[in-house]
Amino acid sequence: MPTTRATTKEPPKTGDRSAVRTLLRLWPYVRPVRVRLFTAAFVAVLASCTGLVIPLVLKWMVDGPVADRDPAGVWLGALYLLLLGLAEALLFGLRRWLVARPLSGIEAGMRADLYRHLQRLPVAFHDRWASGQLLSRGTTDLMLLRMFLAFPLTFLLVNGVTILVGVVIMLLQDWTLGLVILGPAVPVMVTCLIFERRYAHVARLAQDQVGDLTTVVEESVLGIRIIKGFGRHRSQARAFRELSRTLRGTELRKARLLATIWGVIVTLPEVAIGAALVLGAVQVADGSLSAGTLVAFLSTALALRWPVDSIGFLLAMSQEAATATERYFEVMDEAPEEPTAVPSTDSTGGKDNGLRFHDVRFRYPDAPYDSPPVLDRIDLHIRPGESMALVGATGSGKTTLTALVPRLHEVTSGRITLDGEDITAMSREALRALVAVAFEEPTLFSASVGDNVLMGAADSAGAAELNRALSVAQADFAHALPQGTDTQVGEQGLSLSGGQRQRLALARAVVGRPRFLVLDDPLSALDVHTEAAVEAALRDVLADTTALIVAHRPSTVLLADRVALLSRGRITAVGTHHELLRSNAEYAHLMSGTGEAEEDDR
Ligand SMILES: Nc1ncnc2c1ncn2[C@@H]1O[C@H](COP(=O)(O)OP(=O)(O)OP(=O)(O)O)[C@@H](O)[C@H]1O
Ligand SMILES: [Mg+2]
Repeated sequence: MPTTRATTKEPPKTGDRSAVRTLLRLWPYVRPVRVRLFTAAFVAVLASCTGLVIPLVLKWMVDGPVADRDPAGVWLGALYLLLLGLAEALLFGLRRWLVARPLSGIEAGMRADLYRHLQRLPVAFHDRWASGQLLSRGTTDLMLLRMFLAFPLTFLLVNGVTILVGVVIMLLQDWTLGLVILGPAVPVMVTCLIFERRYAHVARLAQDQVGDLTTVVEESVLGIRIIKGFGRHRSQARAFRELSRTLRGTELRKARLLATIWGVIVTLPEVAIGAALVLGAVQVADGSLSAGTLVAFLSTALALRWPVDSIGFLLAMSQEAATATERYFEVMDEAPEEPTAVPSTDSTGGKDNGLRFHDVRFRYPDAPYDSPPVLDRIDLHIRPGESMALVGATGSGKTTLTALVPRLHEVTSGRITLDGEDITAMSREALRALVAVAFEEPTLFSASVGDNVLMGAADSAGAAELNRALSVAQADFAHALPQGTDTQVGEQGLSLSGGQRQRLALARAVVGRPRFLVLDDPLSALDVHTEAAVEAALRDVLADTTALIVAHRPSTVLLADRVALLSRGRITAVGTHHELLRSNAEYAHLMSGTGEAEEDDR
């Protein structure tokens, strides 16, 4: 489980970030539904402009039938108005129907891409990123994007066109009144510009904080036993409160910004409309303006109120969408593990069989550049069919060494070969079919016992392989579970004991009869009797694989043909258990510390 790291960084380049350029990166996802989206936007523009015809009908009514006291004409006008309103409503409904399905398709597609990418990113990436940050990108951010495509994207266009058409209509009615209405345009635009810059900054902050909060929730749920066991629920709750208070503060900053721009955008046009009303009324009294024109003018102005008022939050939503896009592509831009093999430059042919480390050096990618490497000058040869135990003090680099073989991490320098072939020259798929692993912390997925174990085998493997693996790993308890090997385990199923989980993980490692087996301390959680039974069964498996087994207890070490001692990142001794016991003080110390006698030769 990745640890929490400080991931809430101040947005790096809000100033020169262009929301439009960021949002344009969504185009590949939008492309397949572009026709529908453009049609929907066109329909919405049409609907909105239909609304603008209503004032013109009003003008005709006021100056025509109303002035002439012609009731039939008034009824006709009312009918026109009703039809126009109906058409507008129908068109907006059509728009909604047009966009709903494709947009949820886009969201689902982007989420699938993110998930696929996460699977392909190297372990080093996952070491670096807090899981909550990834979770929030896959959920909240994608939801923001869908909402943006559904609403602000279309309506920024629709409202823009509506305002333009409305202003032209008003200018045509009476250009002096039109200019009065246009007065606030410049201050409103300046406010929008300033607002947008500030809002981008706060939106980024808020979305990062949501990610941090998600991480805390996730860790609290996964670590609930430790939190309760150590009575840490108060401090955990405090950490949560702290983060959610920060987030609330940021959300309030967003709200304040939104309130400010809303105030400006609503007030200024309102004042302008008031001024136009007074001016227009005076002109009508003078007789220089017809009452109908004034009615049409004012109802156009009022019809434009919603498009203008909404600009503030449309811009806000667009900024949030730009931030979400940025956060989404931060993950998508990370380079995945190279899927294809690099052709091998020098192959040693068949001479060099088995598993071999050639002058391997390794440093974690996020370690400081000048820190000593975790592994240094590792030269180790495990002959075909041989099993080698790896022994070393805690923190000496055993887990790190085993992770290099299936290329969970890349060697910093040197080479690892399997039967003479450099592992970097194989495709990852081929490599991982050749090497099976079981780690210290056995992970089970929310699936049946059988599926969890068969994950380690080819797709064609069936019940026979499953039963063999279960019996090798002494995991026959699986047959006695409520639904046998179909019993659901993992987070969404039955909880198993540590030893039971370890045995299933071991079964997963051996089920595919791998040529190479890498086991990181696979027997640590077993009681002495089960361990002895597993060892007895493993002996058969080890007979025909080449294996590297991290071991702490002499009984496990004795399974192996030879032992390598890892001491502070270097292999300091290789030999049989008894040779090393005699000749190497560190080894003798490590083995005696476990409290088990090594008198039997088995
Ligand atoms: N993902 C990582 N990023 C950076 N450093 C790491 C990472 N994982 C382990 N280390 C460091 O590498 C060193 C070796 O760790 P490793 O897990 O390989 O030890 P180990 O021999 O398996 O110990 P143990 O017997 O306790 O399992 C440690 O000092 C550890 O701090
Ligand atoms: Mg370890």
